[in-house]
Amino acid sequence: MYLLGGTGRAFTQMVLPGMTLCVFWSFIVFANLVFCPSNATITSLLGNETDRVALLAFKRGISSDPLGALISWNNTLHFCKWKGVTCSRHHQRVTILDLSQQILVGYMSPYISNLTFLREINLQDNSFNGQITQEIGRLFRLRVLNTSVNSLGGEIPANLSRCIHLQAISLGNNNLTGQIPSELGTLRKLKLLEVQSNFLIGSIPPSLGNLSSLTDLRLRSNHLEGSIPDELTQIQSMVSFVLSDNELSGTISSSLYNISSLEGIAVMENQLYGSLPSHIGISLPKLQFLLLGGNQFTGPFPISLSNASRLQWLELQYNHFSGPVPNLGSLQHLTEIYLWGNQFGTGKADDLSFITSLTNCSFLESLDLIENHFKGILPSSITNLSTHLSWLQLGGSQIVGSIPSHIGNLINLQYLSICKTFITGSIPTSIGKLRNLQRMLMYENMLSGQIPSSIGNIAQLNMLNLNENNLTGSIPSALGNCKNLEAMLLSKNNLRGAIPRQVIGLSSLSIVLNLSHNTLTGSLPLEVGNLIHLTSLDVSSNILSGEIPTTLGNCESLTELYMDVNSFQGTIPSSLSGLKAIQSLGFSYNNFSGSIPKYLEELQLLTYLNLSFNNLLGEVPKQGVFRNASAISVIGNDNLCGGITELKLDPCPILDKEKKRKSLVSTVIISVASGPLGLIFLLCASVALYRLRKPRTKPSSTSSMEGQHLKVSYAELFKSTNGFNSANLIGVGSYGTVYEGILGRDENIVAVKVLNCQLRGVSTSFMAECEALRNIRHRNLVKIITSCSSMDFGGNDFKALVFEYMPNGSLEKWLHPKLDEQYKLRILNFNERLNIAIDVASVLDYIHHHCHTPIAHCDLKPSNILLDEDMNAHVCDFGLAQLYSRITSKSSKEQSSTIGLKGTIGYIAPGDVYSYGILLLELFTGKCPTDDMFKDGLSLHKFAEMAFPNRTIRFLIPYSH
Ligand SMILES: *[C@@H]1O[C@H](CO)[C@@H](O)[C@H](O)[C@H]1NC(C)=O
Ligand SMILES: *[C@@H]1O[C@H](CO)[C@@H](O)[C@H](O)[C@H]1NC(C)=O
Ligand SMILES: *[C@@H]1O[C@H](CO)[C@@H](O)[C@H](O)[C@H]1NC(C)=O
Ligand SMILES: *[C@@H]1O[C@H](CO)[C@@H](O)[C@H](O)[C@H]1NC(C)=O
Repeated sequence: MYLLGGTGRAFTQMVLPGMTLCVFWSFIVFANLVFCPSNATITSLLGNETDRVALLAFKRGISSDPLGALISWNNTLHFCKWKGVTCSRHHQRVTILDLSQQILVGYMSPYISNLTFLREINLQDNSFNGQITQEIGRLFRLRVLNTSVNSLGGEIPANLSRCIHLQAISLGNNNLTGQIPSELGTLRKLKLLEVQSNFLIGSIPPSLGNLSSLTDLRLRSNHLEGSIPDELTQIQSMVSFVLSDNELSGTISSSLYNISSLEGIAVMENQLYGSLPSHIGISLPKLQFLLLGGNQFTGPFPISLSNASRLQWLELQYNHFSGPVPNLGSLQHLTEIYLWGNQFGTGKADDLSFITSLTNCSFLESLDLIENHFKGILPSSITNLSTHLSWLQLGGSQIVGSIPSHIGNLINLQYLSICKTFITGSIPTSIGKLRNLQRMLMYENMLSGQIPSSIGNIAQLNMLNLNENNLTGSIPSALGNCKNLEAMLLSKNNLRGAIPRQVIGLSSLSIVLNLSHNTLTGSLPLEVGNLIHLTSLDVSSNILSGEIPTTLGNCESLTELYMDVNSFQGTIPSSLSGLKAIQSLGFSYNNFSGSIPKYLEELQLLTYLNLSFNNLLGEVPKQGVFRNASAISVIGNDNLCGGITELKLDPCPILDKEKKRKSLVSTVIISVASGPLGLIFLLCASVALYRLRKPRTKPSSTSSMEGQHLKVSYAELFKSTNGFNSANLIGVGSYGTVYEGILGRDENIVAVKVLNCQLRGVSTSFMAECEALRNIRHRNLVKIITSCSSMDFGGNDFKALVFEYMPNGSLEKWLHPKLDEQYKLRILNFNERLNIAIDVASVLDYIHHHCHTPIAHCDLKPSNILLDEDMNAHVCDFGLAQLYSRITSKSSKEQSSTIGLKGTIGYIAPGDVYSYGILLLELFTGKCPTDDMFKDGLSLHKFAEMAFPNRTIRFLIPYSH
């Protein structure tokens, strides 16, 4: 008792010395049992330590166990109780390791081969990688090895042949390479050999013919080549023989067709040839599937197949079978018949009469007969086929007759294709009953009459192709109800009337909408803008007229747009610059006028542009698609000029006025630059202009502000800017980003300035800008159209101002273009520069002196000066504006702290006129104040020194405030 009550260490010391101690303690029964067991007792109580070590090693090989399959694999629990482990009751040795479908990632530890009592390994459906260890050959009790659906690589271990009790080998769906080891032929008990979907090469070893118990051979989807060994076709136990999708060649030995136990033959997609024995249906009475598609088989359809009464799948497609198709009505279990791409048919009128016999096959799901040599009449009994039928494909042969009016009986049809036939008559209205139909293909027939509007009832319809028939009438607007339609092709018919807005606005269309080669009239409805997912739109060769709706620019997925051969008119709208994905554009043979839009140069993917035979005028651009003469066509437009030389167009005339101005500018510049006091003169002159000049115009009377300060919603702005798309981004201002958008019923182009509500002070800025712009109007101020202060879809504060759009962008861009923009912009001429200076001066004069509350802009700089179409300057960004009345009412301390921090460094203090001075220097010298200069506060003096090196600069500029 003393010893038992002692410390753990003493306790162990007592136990380990073994027998001597045991003898001493042997009178204590309890102790004898626990501490002095025989070897056999250890095994039975603790199991075999080797197995535990092996399992733990196996666990270490697993790097990811998201489902926690191996959580229970710990030392407190006996390994026979670990998840997935089954032990023999007597020896406590591991017999089954089942870790299937556990999403395990890792390698198969070679320690697994120490589990010598293993009978089953089930690791299927995981992500084991690495190789299958050769050591696996030590598991001589193994019956089942299943590692299918993993990522195992390397070769199939030939040592597997030492596991002589193996009954099933499943190694399918891995990355196994190399050849099938011929040694496997010794596994006399093997019933299943499955290595499908790997990368196995070489030929099938003839030794596999010795697998005398084999029932299932699955070698599908590898790169096996050579012929099918005759030995393999002599295994009398064979049930399922699957060799599809390899590179096997030669013929199949006729002995295969005598294995009466055979239930299935699948050798699709190989290069096999030969014909089927005429007795096949009798010698293979259990046949359930016969899949021979995609080979070079020849000969007739064996009539005896109608005796293989269990036949379910018959796939003979894409071979060279010929002759008549027998009646198959006796095959009650038939579900699939694929005969397409053969030479079946006799040329007689009853070629398709076997279809009538198929009405007995009440489980028929698929019938595919296209591209054969069938002639004769389409039997109306086709509507009596099984209601399970989901796939029906006819055509590609000289079938006549019409589509039976009760086609709507086949209520489970999902795929209906009757194409390239001589079938006449109309499309039956009952087609609308096919509520499960997803694809309806009836192109290249001789169908006439109207498109039934009942098609609109087919909500699942995904593809509708009625190209090349003689259909008449108008396009039913009910087609717009098919909200799952991705492709609609109605080309080359006699359809007339207008394009229904419901149809052209069907936003599910994503693949193609082809309405070409009809006699459609009217204009292209605005709803075309809904087609934001569509890739190909073709409305060519109709009688469509009117202008291109600007909404077409919304279709940003379009890669092809063909509007050729119609009577469209007007200009090509600027909104089409939104077609960022466009590759081919056809506008030929219309009445388009105006100039060729410059943005076409910038559509990066555009490789085909046909503008021929319109009334376009002016300069042909030279960049982008216009660089390649073979990519564009501009002929048949009489007033085009310029472009690349290959086009052989006249050069564009230089206007006389422009010439004169040019020479004037150069004289002025020369005199300014040469005269020592030139610059000073210039500055003074400008300031004098600012001082003296009366506003050039009265405040504009076209009120864009008054009364109509209608608020616009977040959703409207979202839509107008394509969801604040980066493609619409035109600038980043002091407090937010500016997008181009299309707003309102008139589809005006606007600039939407979205304030970044995360920034501090943005609210104040918003208010300042609204307030400043509320009551002032001047032709050189950017007009505010409306504003928006609400929540975005995420419930965050959203503030935006909508301004009129200034097509020529900011002065900043013209003075200091970014490298990638340089090619687009010409250099401003002197006149333009002077006009800009005057425009800005007149704004400052107006806001300082002529508003009823004087305003200071406080952030005057080139990026806040925008240029309109005629290069008139418009001052914008009043986000920092200060109303003098308010400033003066505040304490001077407060005032300096607010103003002092605002504005862009270098342009600020002491005021707008100071900024104006900097602006003038930039404007006329083209020099840009460097970052360096900004650091210690840019002085006008320093900048002037840089701009005019080697000159003494004196300033006579009066500071205004
Ligand atoms: C455990 O198994 C291994 C391998 O089969 C064997 O060598 C060893 O003798 C066994 N140990 C016991 C205690 O049975
Ligand atoms: C061992 O696994 C069992 C079963 O999952 C669990 O109950 C036990 O807490 C685990 N022990 C340790 C020490 O993790
Ligand atoms: C178990 O297997 C590993 C690797 O195959 C080997 O190194 C080890 O000696 C084997 N035996 C025991 C008893 O763990
Ligand atoms: C092996 O696993 C796969 C995938 O789960 C399964 O289809 C196959 O029948 C299994 N093989 C055996 C012999 O159990």
